[in-house]
Amino acid sequence: MFSRYKKPSPGQARPVDAAPEKSAKPSVSAAPVPASLRRPTAPAKADLGPQEKERKRKERLSEIKLDLHRALLDNLNLGALDTATEQELREEIGSITAEVLEERSIVLNREDRMTLTQELYDEVRGLGPLETLLKDDTVNDILVNGPHQIFIERDGILELSDVTFKDERHLLRIIDKIVSAVGRRVDESNPYVDARLADGSRFNAMVPPVAVDGSLVSIRKFKKDKLGIDDLVRFGAFSEEMAAYLQAAVACRLNIIVSGGTGSGKTTTLNALSSFIDNAERILTIEDTAELQLQQIHVGRMESRPPNVEGKGEVSPRDCLKNALRMRPDRIIVGETRGEEVIDMLQAMNTGHDGSMTTIHANNPRDGISRLENMVAMAGIEMPLKAVRSQIASAVHLIVQASRLQDGSRRMTSITEVTGMEGEVISMQEVFRFQRVGLTPENKILGHFTATGVRSHYSERFRLWGYDLPASLYEPVTPE
Ligand SMILES: Nc1ncnc2c1ncn2[C@@H]1O[C@H](COP(=O)(O)OP(=O)(O)OP(=O)(O)O)[C@@H](O)[C@H]1O
Ligand SMILES: [Mg+2]
Repeated sequence: MFSRYKKPSPGQARPVDAAPEKSAKPSVSAAPVPASLRRPTAPAKADLGPQEKERKRKERLSEIKLDLHRALLDNLNLGALDTATEQELREEIGSITAEVLEERSIVLNREDRMTLTQELYDEVRGLGPLETLLKDDTVNDILVNGPHQIFIERDGILELSDVTFKDERHLLRIIDKIVSAVGRRVDESNPYVDARLADGSRFNAMVPPVAVDGSLVSIRKFKKDKLGIDDLVRFGAFSEEMAAYLQAAVACRLNIIVSGGTGSGKTTTLNALSSFIDNAERILTIEDTAELQLQQIHVGRMESRPPNVEGKGEVSPRDCLKNALRMRPDRIIVGETRGEEVIDMLQAMNTGHDGSMTTIHANNPRDGISRLENMVAMAGIEMPLKAVRSQIASAVHLIVQASRLQDGSRRMTSITEVTGMEGEVISMQEVFRFQRVGLTPENKILGHFTATGVRSHYSERFRLWGYDLPASLYEPVTPE
């Protein structure tokens, strides 16, 4: 049994600190990690308190684990792993572990040894180095730049993690494992893939030679508990006044576009806004990767599908949207509008599906409108610009701008109403904004949310629908 998983050319488990053997196949290796980015090495021994001792114990265990993992990868026949039963694999890991520990004269108690083999099992069977990051709830995004550099995002801040892959082959094996589990393939001829993992996380990978310095992977972790309106207000993403305004806007069925850069919190905002929709309404959602978690009872979810390797079987967002319109929705929510589906989205918004929502990639509300115009033009619709604009102006009521600021915080930097057309131009008015005032010594952005002082263009609509927002809501805030 041992020989089944051992590499075909057997050898002693190599001392883990020795230079790695050259693999027969040249692997694409990333540039060496600069010293400042390397994971810290353990400091010298000193007299330690119990807490410090425990920390040291954990540190030591994780170091041993890393060593053992390397040894395992060197010794296991990875090709035979998939057919191994759980017990066979556990025994195999147990025996290699024992071998390496003995060789290095490391003595572990039973409990530590069991934890260690369990973790190693997880790594070999699961997604290797990614497994721990995927399990860590404080991590939002995982960004892999080749085998030796894995960045993670925590609390809006990107940091280099202390996790690495052994080499490009190891990374490719994990990528392959992930994509084959969802029925996809990635290789030289088909070098990138976008998929949803079993736990709902969004996964994108691009492999060499298109990815020059080793495979690139980005994972947006699926949050079981999406941030709600209250959380977002608490985190300072927007103010209570803005929340009250948005509640009225959603309930009164304004068509809303959430605009923002990549990773700025668009989907999170869209999801939070959806919580204001009445339970009695029939909502259909269309996404590339189903991320939205609507709380209402009457929700139909659709996921578009890219073409397969032979270029067949595509179901585009536009196909989904066209079909959705035949399914008697009260509201349609499109995860992201970025192509020809814009035509159907605008039409839906203009023809009785008020209260629809979507997101677009744009850096400010004005850019958002231009993006819409460009998308219409690129969809091949021959329409005079003025006609396109007037269609946009009557379809879109509100643009909510999400931004990821330079200190990593995510904020709703503007709520802007589309008020109609003035000549050839779409007129807009900003009702709320984030007013930046400076930076703290730690480079945290200082600022506050404020109304701009203009009264909502939709005040009368709000009133008629039973949302009589107080005039004070629109008064600018001047912090003391
Ligand atoms: N206000 C916030 N405070 C803290 N974290 C947030 C906030 N808004 C969003 N996030 C987190 O930031 C990450 C990115 O958010 P989200 O997926 O909503 O962004 P996005 O703009 O839709 O990204 P993409 O452009 O990739 O679709 C998520 O992990 C989310 O949980
Ligand atoms: Mg998104």
